[in-house]
Amino acid sequence: MNHLLARSVLKHVIAAGNCGGIHLSSSGAAASARVFDGDSVVKGHGSSMVLIAWRRMMSTAAESSSAAVEKKSSGAASEKAEKDDVIVSSYWGVSRPKITKEDGTEWPWNCFMPWEAYRADLSIDLGKHHVPKTFIDKVAYRTVKLLRIPTDVFFQRRYGCRAMMLETVAAVPGMVGGMLLHLRSLRKFQQSGGWIKALLEEAENERMHLMTMVELVQPKWYERLLVLTVQGVFFNAFFVLYLMSPKLAHRVVGYLEEEAVHSYTEYLKDIESGAIENVPAPAIAIDYWRLPKDATLKDVIIVIRADEAHHRDVNHFASDVHFQGKELREAAAPVGYH
Ligand SMILES: [Fe+2]
Ligand SMILES: [Fe+2]
Repeated sequence: MNHLLARSVLKHVIAAGNCGGIHLSSSGAAASARVFDGDSVVKGHGSSMVLIAWRRMMSTAAESSSAAVEKKSSGAASEKAEKDDVIVSSYWGVSRPKITKEDGTEWPWNCFMPWEAYRADLSIDLGKHHVPKTFIDKVAYRTVKLLRIPTDVFFQRRYGCRAMMLETVAAVPGMVGGMLLHLRSLRKFQQSGGWIKALLEEAENERMHLMTMVELVQPKWYERLLVLTVQGVFFNAFFVLYLMSPKLAHRVVGYLEEEAVHSYTEYLKDIESGAIENVPAPAIAIDYWRLPKDATLKDVIIVIRADEAHHRDVNHFASDVHFQGKELREAAAPVGYH
């Protein structure tokens, strides 16, 4: 009964909108509210929150009717001011604790947290190459070499654009593989051996490469169109490929990553020769890879290249596990390296 009363009161309060300084938001069965009274902010939950809102509404009913008349007369300007004044409610009334960097300044990112930042392993062997031996290896290798031709023709030595476009593709396989392993784990009531996490980490890491590259290169409208088309084709093609042969899918990614290492090495050569300006590193890259404050584009490309070499090894390893007739969950996944 109390629950019904509370719901009915809440319904009326929501219908009353934002009047009287009450800002409400509801999400499913849960609702949170902030009631403003002068400078003080009262946060509440559930029925206690509804009662506060109810009392506030009743006590200000007369004020709000006259305020409504005033509001009408003040026109569009006041409406805009009111919109600007709306505060996005916190998650269940709980605010995120203040997160600071090591130097004491506020953490500026919501897309990743300080504990997700890391230092890339720069000691990784950049020249490693998996020599194609089996038929599947050769198919994977030839496919990647074939895909490189249109990429070379389209971008030539515009490595900024090239990297940005390729990262939109590179972030897909990890997500597809991670998703399919997740579903497999659910279907088979089996653990994944950490591979779901490893592949999703790869996808997120690739996406952070893209977030970094777009700070440096602004995509043109036709490049955005190309991304849309390529993603539509590549996601579906890789999805079907992973269902049919994860061994081949991981091998293809392994070779794609070998190409990525090569492309970033060429990018570095152009920075060193002065053909590409060695601009300051974007702030997001400095925080994500824990780079020094005066880091440059060259430093960023060096750490991205190390990440690509790591993805290369992860995917060749995954393909090797399948090649030995085993399932990925039987081999410990390389988690936590990015
Ligand atoms: Fe990447
Ligand atoms: Fe990669």
